[in-house]
This record gives sequence, structure tokens and C-alpha cells, in this order.
Amino acid sequence: MTNQNTEVPEIREPLPQGNRTPLIAGNWKMNLDHLQAIALVQKLAWGLKDVRHDFSEAEVAVFPPFTDLRSVQTLLAADKLSLTLGAQDVSPHESGAYTGDISAAMLAKLDVRYALVGHSERRHGHSESDDTVGLKARAAHAAGIVPMICVGETAEDLEQHGAAAIPIAQLTAALAHLPQDAEFVVAYEPVWAIGSGQAATPEQAEEVARALREHLRELRGDDRAVAIRVLYGGSVASQNIAGFMRQPNIDGALIGGASLKVDEFTRIIQFKKHVTAG
Ligand code: PGA
Repeated sequence: MTNQNTEVPEIREPLPQGNRTPLIAGNWKMNLDHLQAIALVQKLAWGLKDVRHDFSEAEVAVFPPFTDLRSVQTLLAADKLSLTLGAQDVSPHESGAYTGDISAAMLAKLDVRYALVGHSERRHGHSESDDTVGLKARAAHAAGIVPMICVGETAEDLEQHGAAAIPIAQLTAALAHLPQDAEFVVAYEPVWAIGSGQAATPEQAEEVARALREHLRELRGDDRAVAIRVLYGGSVASQNIAGFMRQPNIDGALIGGASLKVDEFTRIIQFKKHVTAG
């Protein structure tokens, strides 16, 4: 009989690397009206064509404000562009008396593939709880949209609990609302790194991404843990993207400020060049 009180360190087989398609996602936040959005996406599409970007090597998604989605959707469809569309938020409710909310069904009608849930600017600026984030993820999934679950620790959390504890707790809480087989993306964004110009080091980010994936093994099993993409976000730029993309557990980036500059965003998307060069 095994002694229940003896702590035996769990020895687990390392996960295989899998073949996750990297995802480079541009979160525009509250920037660009619909005309500026069209101009940016056109320029981005030309730029990517110029460098012969292979979308099977890195998927590219843009997350414009709600008011731009219809214009960008129309442009993507008319010009048959391979960029993917994301929304920055989604209502946890299906429909009804929720002034100001945008439902997942409305977004799905606009060919929106991803919805950010739990971005730190929503958690902290709009007091969104873990539960709300989970309900938003569930609403997105129910409408056929892939939730991109954002998690991350504040500088204070980092000091008190280390880097991984809060992101793991946030992910666990969100996933409690999602069916076992639901598709989702995880974006690890340390709050102290967002918009600060102070990115995490690739090693710091990898440590948390790895911890999140190990936790996903428990929550969703090995096959899903291998398939799910974990992105890093927080002051990503063309100078640091290669370091992140070299990490085995980082499958892309969620980019704020730098996604508004077409040339810079294009260089980030072209990270393979830097990775092999560096
Ligand atoms: P940043 O923002 O790239 O400007 O740091 C990232 C984010 O908030 O998603």
C-alpha cells in the first residue's frame, strides 16, 4: 500500500513538441477608426505580399476596435486576404438588455475567429472577475469563436507569488466554464510588461508558458496540452520577437503598440528570418 502522506515527486514524460502553427496577433486596443483600420490592413497585406509571407508558417490576426470590424471584414473578403480577424472583448450574455455589450453571435457574423477574454486592461480597468472571463470564453466558444484567454501577474503578484501562480489560477478559473473539447488560445501577458517597454526575458516567459502547458495536461490531457497555443505578450517588438519564438512552449505573440506600426509589425511577423539568422 502506498503511503498517502509521503510526497513522491511526480515523474512525467515530457510532452512531444507537436506542430502548433505560430500565431502573431495584433491587439490595436482603442486606436484607429474604421478608415484608418482599412488603410492599415491594406498596407499590412501589401507588405506581407512583398516579403512573400507564408501564412502556413505563421498565422496573422488583427484585433481592431468593434467599430472597425465590419470594414476590415469586408476588405479581407473582397481582397481574399489571409489575415484572421479577432475581437478585443465579447459579452458573456447571448442577447438582451445589456447596453453597450456586443454578443459573440454578432461577432461570428463578421467572420471573427478569435475573441480576447480577460485582457489585463479589462480585468483591472473594468474589474472583470475570473468568473466573468470564464463566462465570456464560454459565450465565444458557443458561437464558434475561439477565446484567447489572457492571463498574467502584476508586479506585486510576481513579488508575492512568483510568476506562474496567478496565470495558472486565472487559466484554471476560466477553463472551468469551457467544455473539455473547446478550442482556445492562451496569452500569457505579465501585467508589468504590457505597454512598459520592459518585456519579460524569453527565459522568464518560457518558464510560465511551460508551467501553463504542464497545468493544461492536468486540466485537458496530454493531446490537448500539445495542441493548444500559448502566446507571450508584453512589449514585444521586432528586436525581441526571435528570443521568444525560440522557446519551445511559446507559440506566438500578442502585440499591442507595435502592431499599429505596419513596418514593425511586418518585421515581427517575419520572425522566422530573425530566428534562423540569430
Ligand atoms: P504591448 O501590449 O505590446 O503594447 O505591451 C500587449 C497587450 O496588451 O496585448
